[in-house]
This record gives sequence, C-alpha cells and structure tokens, in this order.
Amino acid sequence: MIVAPQKNGSTFGDSMLRKEDARFVRGSGHYVDDVQLKGMLHLSLLRSPVAHARLKSIDVSRAKAAPGVKMVITGADLAAHNLAWMPTLAGDTQAVLATDKVRFQGQEVAFVVADSRYHAQDALELIDVEYEPLTVLVDPHKALEPGAPIIRDDKPGKTDNTCFTWEVGDKGAVAAAFARPDAVVVKQQIFYPRIHPAPMETCGAVADYDRAMGKMTIYMTSQAPHAHRTLFAIVAGLPEENIRIISPDIGGGFGGKVPIYPGYVCATAASLLLGKPVKWMESRSENLMADSFARDYHMTSEIAATRDGKILGTRVHIVADHGAFNAHAQPGPEWPTGFFPIFTSCYDIPAAHASAVGVYTNKAPGGIAYRCSFRVTEAIYCIERTMDVLADELGMDAVELRKKNLITKEQQPYRSIMGWEYDGGDYPAALDVALKMADYPALLKEQEEARKEGRLMGIGFTTFTEIVGAGPGKKCHIAGLEMFDSAELRLHPTGKAILKLGVKSQGQGHETTFAQIVAGELGIPAEDILVEEGDTDNTPYGLGTYGSRSTPVAGAATAVVARKIREKAKRIAAHLLEAAVDDLEWTGDAFRVKGSPDQRKSMAEIAFAAYTNTPPGEEAGLEGVAYYDPPEMTYPFGAYIAVVDIDRGTGVVRVRRFIAVDDCGNRINPMIIEGQMHGGLAQGIGTALMEVIEFDETGNHLNSSFMDYQIVTALEVPNFELGEFVTPSTHHPLGARGVAESPTVGSPSAIVNAVVDALSPWGVRHIDMPMTPARVWEVLNAKGIAE
Ligand code: CDP
Repeated sequence: MIVAPQKNGSTFGDSMLRKEDARFVRGSGHYVDDVQLKGMLHLSLLRSPVAHARLKSIDVSRAKAAPGVKMVITGADLAAHNLAWMPTLAGDTQAVLATDKVRFQGQEVAFVVADSRYHAQDALELIDVEYEPLTVLVDPHKALEPGAPIIRDDKPGKTDNTCFTWEVGDKGAVAAAFARPDAVVVKQQIFYPRIHPAPMETCGAVADYDRAMGKMTIYMTSQAPHAHRTLFAIVAGLPEENIRIISPDIGGGFGGKVPIYPGYVCATAASLLLGKPVKWMESRSENLMADSFARDYHMTSEIAATRDGKILGTRVHIVADHGAFNAHAQPGPEWPTGFFPIFTSCYDIPAAHASAVGVYTNKAPGGIAYRCSFRVTEAIYCIERTMDVLADELGMDAVELRKKNLITKEQQPYRSIMGWEYDGGDYPAALDVALKMADYPALLKEQEEARKEGRLMGIGFTTFTEIVGAGPGKKCHIAGLEMFDSAELRLHPTGKAILKLGVKSQGQGHETTFAQIVAGELGIPAEDILVEEGDTDNTPYGLGTYGSRSTPVAGAATAVVARKIREKAKRIAAHLLEAAVDDLEWTGDAFRVKGSPDQRKSMAEIAFAAYTNTPPGEEAGLEGVAYYDPPEMTYPFGAYIAVVDIDRGTGVVRVRRFIAVDDCGNRINPMIIEGQMHGGLAQGIGTALMEVIEFDETGNHLNSSFMDYQIVTALEVPNFELGEFVTPSTHHPLGARGVAESPTVGSPSAIVNAVVDALSPWGVRHIDMPMTPARVWEVLNAKGIAE
C-alpha cells in the first residue's frame, strides 16, 4: 500500500502521526465498557425469539427471585412512566420494551438488573413470556400487497404497511426524454442488500443517577452526544442541565451510534429508579440482530440516452425496507430517502425523477447512514450499475460513456438538475489520473489475452460525487436541531492550547487533524494543542460526527474560531511591538511589522502577553468560540477502477487491483486520509463480496454472529493504489471536503461492474450483491462456463 511521505512537521498538510495512537496502540483507550463505578449494576435485555407475535402474558416472578437480581422491568412497567415508546430520528415511534406485540426477532421485551452480568443474563431465562404467533412479513413487496397483516397496528387508523411515500424531480421532463424517438432506454432492478457496519465495539451505556444532586451522567457510545442529551431531556422530562453525556473513546461507529437504542433508555430508567449506576453493553449477536442495519433498498433504475451515449434523463423507483419502526437516519423528515436525490451524481443529466415507498416489515429498524451521508451509497451504486447496463446496451466502452456525460471543469460550480450546488472539481481529469495509474490500454490487452485463455478477468469503473457535511441548518436538522457545528479554543499563557469540539471521533483521528488546523491558523505546533470531544458539560453544542461532517462543518468552525483569535492576537502584537495594527502582517508563524520582518511576535509570546501584559481596553485571555452553519454541503468526488479475477471452478472473486483517485479538497493530514481510504475501501469490498443480513420466511435472522456475517478480512483486501487529486472546495474556509465515506460509497459498484464485465461476453448484465462464491458460481453454471 502506498503510504504518504512523512512531511516533517505538525501543521496543516503534514502527515503527522496520530496523537491518539499513543494510547490506542498501548491498549490504554477508555471505552464505555471500561467504565467501572462503585456499586454499579448490570442490565440485560430479554429479546423476542419470534418476528411477529402478540404478547399474551409476561410473568417475571421467577426472574425476580433469582440470585443477585435487583429489578425486572417489562413494557407495562415502562408504560406506567410513559416511557414504553420513544421517538425515532425519522419522526416515527419505536417501542422501548414491547407492550402489545413484538414486531421483529430480537426486539426488546423486558430487562433484568442484577449485581453481575452473569446473574442478569441467567435471570432472563426465567422470564415466562407467552407469544401468540402472527403472520410474518420479511419481503417489502409482499408487505405492500393488499390484505397483508398490518405490522404497525399500534398506530390508530393504519390500514397498510407503508411508512412514507415520496418523490422528487420533474416527472414530466423525464417522461418526455424517455419518449424521444432517438432514445435508447435501459431498465435494471437493483437490490442493495441489508448490511451491518459491525464496529469492533458494540453499543452500550453506563447511566449514573446521583439522587442527591439530581444529576444523570450517561457514558454512552454516542456519535452525537449533545443532540442525544437534548433528546433525553425532552423524552425523559429531565432538566437538560442535569444530564451529562460522556462519549469516551469509541471503537468505530460508522453511523450505527447515531440513533438512540432502547438499551440506552432502559439503563437510564433503571439508574433513575434504583439510584445506582447501571451498565448495559450489547453482545455481538444483539448488535447484529437489533441495531444499526443499513441499506435494504430495492431500486428500479432507468436511463434514456441517445445512441451515441448522451444521457437524456433518468428515473428511479425505490422500495425501501425500513423494518418494524421507521428509525432511518435522515437530516430531518423532509429527507425520507436521505440524500438519495444526489443520484445524478457527477453527470450532466438534464432530467431526473426519483420516487420511493418506505415499507414496514418484521425486521429490525434502522436504515442508518453506514459510512455514508444518508443513502448516498445506494444512490451512487444505483447510477453506476445502470451506467454499465447502458454501456452494454449501446455497445460502448464504460469509460467512454462516462466521459461523455461527466460534468466538466468549466461547468463548475455546477448546479445539478436536483438543485445541488457542487463546490468545484474536475471530474474528467480525476478519471484520467485513475486511467493512467491503471494503464487502461494495457489492462484491456491483458483482458483480451485472458479471454483467449478462458480466464475470467473483469475491469470495473465508478466515477462519482459524494455529498457530505450536513447542514446548512435551515435544510438539515435532527428533531429540529439545526446542523451547525462548533469549536471553542483557548490559548494558555505558555502558548499551549485546548480545543473543544461539538463533534465526536470514533477513530478518525480528530485529536490530530483538528490540532493541525489550529496549528496552521495560529503557527503553534499541533503537539501543543489538546483536542477534547464528547463530554456535553465541557464542549460546545454540536450535532455530532456522521456523514463525514466533521471536517466540512467542525473543521470550518475550528478555522473560524482560530481566525477570530488571530484578530485579537494582532491587537496584542501591535501593543507589544508598539506598532499600528494595520502595519502588521501574519506570516504563518508570527505577526511581523511590514517592511521590518525582524520585528516579530510569535503566538506563544502573544498568548503570554494576553495574561500578563494586556493592552489597555482589551480583555485578558485569548479564547473564543465559533458556531459554523455551512452555506452548502461539500462534494468530494472520485474515480475508481477495480480489476477482478473469477475462479471458474469455485466462483470466488478476487479483487486483484483497486485504483482509487479521490478529491477531498485541501488535505489536512494525507496519512490519515490514506488510512480512511484503506478502511473505507475494505468495507466497500466486504459489501460487494461477502456481507449480507438475511432472514428466512419466518423472520429468523440468519447472520447473528461472525460465523454467519462474513466481515471483510485482510485476505480479501488487495494492495490499494491510491491517487491524489486536489481541487479546493469553493466555499469551505479551508478549501477542504470530507473524505471518510467516499471509498465505501464508490467501491461496491466498481467491483460489481468488474465482475459483470468479466461475464459480459456471456450476456450477463447484472448480479445482485454480495458476489459470494455460491452466487457467482450459480451464474457461471447457468451460462455453462463453470469448470
Ligand atoms: O466526520 P468524519 O470525521 O467521519 O469524517 P471526515 O471529516 O471525512 O474526516 C475523517 C478524517 O480525515 C478526519 O481526521 C479529518 O480531519 C481527516 N481529513 C483530512 O485530513 N483532510 C480532509 N480534507 C478531510 C478529512
């Protein structure tokens, strides 16, 4: 793997080693499960073994009498406190503990609090529940059929299983494009299966209610601690100043730690009722079964184009499986398909329309933005697959078709037909860099040779633009909380600094990169800047880290607050140098008198003076806070090429090469960006080749352990070839865009396109993910090419 050269130094643009790794590589991180409090009790959840059933009775008497048990709580108990149901991010309601029915296998039915996890777990088996089985719906198409049993009969007047219908775009203009006599039309059914981010750390919380102070402290695996505090205050009726959420180190979130899960609420309720600290920590199976699923989109995608490949219009219809409760992650109810409307991507498409129906089924709720800015992954996969189907129909090279339709540099900043304002970039040039790295003509030649020898080699492409960095606040919100973000910066007298942020790293390296931003703005080394996140009592309000929004939003807030401080520092420097403010200039490391560069004051000297020699009329200290509401989102983009070989005997797909050229604007830390790329590409390869959550017809979850849920390992990951491409964002104060999600968004389609390309001589146009050996072998066998 290419490792970015170590540019010595610790400022913006340097490949500085990660500050946080000093504790992570020593095993000294501090995660929720490391929290040990005096008198702490343990909570375990009883989960439903069946997917759809009426709750006839629950008898907890045997469990209550079990050794070490302090409390057993059912849905009826929570209902007495008005806590049996909670709101979801999508504006729906979700059962904390079931009261009437269970609606998916693994749903929370009751909880036990005991003096140890073992005792809590043992007592679960003593809870007697009588379930009256109901017809199970796992297929969203069947759930939409008239006469299907109503899953959400808790909702008064509900007569079907739709959770929303939605459309966007100009249906008439698209219909006109498709009706053109010269239009070549392709149509493809594309399924993006249900997958899971499977982070190393599962979800958990330790709720610690201090009865004397009336203060609730919750240590929680939260990607958005401030928003969660406000939601807890609203839902539980606790005064917000008396709730403190602490998100310590997080072992991977990938969007799965944005929603509030019943376990968090149960631990909090138990601590309130018992006046003791209560820990809840999911097992791996619970995590895979009950939380954080992503995707599950059934898409019908169409493109109309001229015979020479110019796209005239596109339309997509989505059947979105949301499971039993609509807990989909979205930046407000205005976005029931998240940012799927980005589906025209990096192409200059004159007409587009998308529609969707969200469906309740007997599966776990979710629809999280797994390493993805709210359904962008589904959108890019959809258009990129359909582009290859179109190329096949036209008999055109996949690269040539893309080149014909890419938005050009001259068209930037481009306003897409869906109303997005792209923030600059040169998509054709990025593709050219990737083609050069791959040596495309040589690859084509190699493929020709391989085909002659009967070997199955495929080359797959993806060109795409992402959309990351939600807000602006007027467009994007969580339960009305506008999606700004914040930074609070204080310089100490010795020239060191502390930076506090409203976002929360889950491993992305914020302690390093955000210090580098300050270093770049104020000329002090990043080593001297401590970055704090995740404690709502000690950091400014923010909406959290997901959808690659940290750099676009909190990164901008950090630059803005540093620049505010630099303004004050300039006045202090003028006082120290006995010069007029206007006679000073900032040279990256100090303020200097224009024309007399030796007369200078560094930021460390200025910081000391801010506390020891304050200019008349100036407040002491050197600190500030900034709340940044982005004017638009940022649009990182990329060009990816996958080369795969398929074994004719087994159907095994091997990703032999993966070339990724990404533009995330100005790069704060190239080494961290490469790390983000490697991780994201690995997850994309896992998605394309192996990962899927499936159910049998009774709603039985078939992948509830790592024996069955095949996450990607080093064995499937090739030697990534990463290219760099930098065009600054037109509106971000640092010219930066987000980066962490692009590789997961762009890579699955490149790999599937490569597999289909390998099999295209036999008329294969599409295979649904994952490309497991069994699935690929089935195709080989059907086409008579299996060995
Ligand atoms: O929101 P999240 O931290 O997941 O994603 P991000 O903003 O895309 O950033 C991921 C990591 O890459 C962070 O440490 C960023 O500061 C870093 N990054 C960078 O060094 N330069 C960029 N232009 C974008 C991100």
